[in-house]
Amino acid sequence: MFYYDIKYPYLRYPFHETDGSVWFMYSIPVTELAKIYQSYYGKMPKSFFDCGAAIGELVHQATNLGMDARGIDIKKYPVEKFESEQKYVKYFQSGRIKITNILDCPPPITDLAYCNGTLTYMTETTLPMALQKFKNVGMLVAIHNTSEDILNAQKTGEELLHAEPRLIRPINWWLYTLNKNGFDADFDKKYGAFWAIPRNNKTR
Ligand SMILES: C[S@@+](CC[C@H](N)C(=O)[O-])C[C@H]1O[C@@H](n2cnc3c(N)ncnc32)[C@H](O)[C@@H]1O
Repeated sequence: MFYYDIKYPYLRYPFHETDGSVWFMYSIPVTELAKIYQSYYGKMPKSFFDCGAAIGELVHQATNLGMDARGIDIKKYPVEKFESEQKYVKYFQSGRIKITNILDCPPPITDLAYCNGTLTYMTETTLPMALQKFKNVGMLVAIHNTSEDILNAQKTGEELLHAEPRLIRPINWWLYTLNKNGFDADFDKKYGAFWAIPRNNKTR
């Protein structure tokens, strides 16, 4: 069993990379993300924004749950080329998922925003700029590797680090940084997820 099978047991789906190779994405289904939102606000989110939407699986799930769902990704995955991914094409064609960098986007206005790994593509300099983009959301949920994950995986001989540089820091560093950038934040051990509420926008 891989480390991510244990850390993210709720959602694992195949996708085609830009070179056509097949990989698996580990994530948290929108139904579970909505529970984190609901435990804070006492109601379901009506809108969802996936920052780093990849092929669009979570935008698809949120749409099927009746949410106003949108997303962005810096990279365009070749969903048109594969029968199994045809259901995602409409989100790109309609502009619900846009190909852009979060750093170049207007701040999304949404109840629930989600970053799966995306924040670790930042540097210590660009991370505050990315976090500012979430000042208008009800809640930001973020999952990604932390220093603790790297060490825990190493104990069973797994190497989680990527070829390209990524921002890997301890859980407490992330909580401190979210706080310093204007969020009330916590780490949910059950989901292995950070959740953060912009301090100036607790309006839901
Ligand atoms: C692990 S995938 C998450 C896929 C999907 N959200 C899920 O949870 O199943 C992370 C995605 O973030 C995208 N990404 C990385 N940096 C980004 C940035 N600066 N702006 C937008 N997307 C970015 C990557 O291209 C990648 O597709």
